[in-house]
Amino acid sequence: MKILAFESTCDETAVAVVEDGRHILTDQIFSQAQLHAVYGGVVPEIASRCHVESISLLAQRAIEAAGITRAEIDAVAVSYAPGLIGAVLVGVNFAKATALSLGVPLIPVHHIRGHIAANYLAYPELEPPFLCLAISGGNTMLVDVRGYTDMRILGQTRDDAAGECFDKSARVLGLPYPGGAPIDRLAKEGRDDAYELPRPFVGENPYDMSFSGLKTAVINLVHHAEQTGTELDRAGLAASLCRAVSESLVPRTMAAAKELGYSRIAVAGGVAANSRIREDFRAAAEAEGKELFIPPLRLCGDNAAMIGCQGYYEYLAGHTAGTDLNAYASMEL
Ligand code: KG4
Repeated sequence: MKILAFESTCDETAVAVVEDGRHILTDQIFSQAQLHAVYGGVVPEIASRCHVESISLLAQRAIEAAGITRAEIDAVAVSYAPGLIGAVLVGVNFAKATALSLGVPLIPVHHIRGHIAANYLAYPELEPPFLCLAISGGNTMLVDVRGYTDMRILGQTRDDAAGECFDKSARVLGLPYPGGAPIDRLAKEGRDDAYELPRPFVGENPYDMSFSGLKTAVINLVHHAEQTGTELDRAGLAASLCRAVSESLVPRTMAAAKELGYSRIAVAGGVAANSRIREDFRAAAEAEGKELFIPPLRLCGDNAAMIGCQGYYEYLAGHTAGTDLNAYASMEL
């Protein structure tokens, strides 16, 4: 079954063709990051307009690169929530028109379910159940993946996502948007004990997280250094931040795996590209005898292959949509 998949929830326009859920025939991504970099973050209006400009060409290119004809497309999948509403609407509307014109089923896919599914593309042997930490620019959640379409959130951030914390910290450090990767690189030159940063515990659910206090602590440190004329150890701050984020995520995930009796742990989303988090997960998994799944960098960030993959399993579960499908800024997993 060949699925043409669309992703446009933030600042990546992406179109992929995925066969039988697990085999990527093509994965076309156009990142708008450079357009938004001058503003230090994603400008929703610009993102929507840019999706409108690029989605048709990208779809044509995907069909060509996959080496298939339009008649060979069996279904259309689209990321319909959560995300920047104007941006999501572009993908949803284009996907609806495509499905209608081809006369094939339309499959709505939750963006975070897509991120989790990136692991199926990277690891052909992986099947639910397993535990997954989904960490991206807009979401941070610990998920009990009981089945391909049966998931339960164990805990999530009460405020900012981990990616937001990286992006805003990078901005005050004068690093380009999106700031996660530049912070990651800078951190390699610094000591992770240069600054003491908070690792908050929130409320009664041990698996809930919080990153706004950490973000504020970094911003305050930078402003304080500027105001007092003291030299800031930028690399040390970046390394301390990576450590603090990792120490908020890895032990919680390991504790949840232990409590639920899971031997398989997956990590997903753009922030899963972070070297410190990857290293800490590897070490923790080895120490506790758990099997670890983290997609390669290309599949961590937003892409449409993951939407095509999850779309396949949604289709098998009978989750298709009519022509009245809408886009949603937020949605339960
Ligand atoms: O999953 P993604 O591409 O988009 C969303 O669905 O949100 O994640 C983007 C986020 C951004 O916040 C970006 O700064 C972060 O992933 N990111 C990283 C790294 N690479 C990307 N954060 C930390 N370390 C990295 N190496």
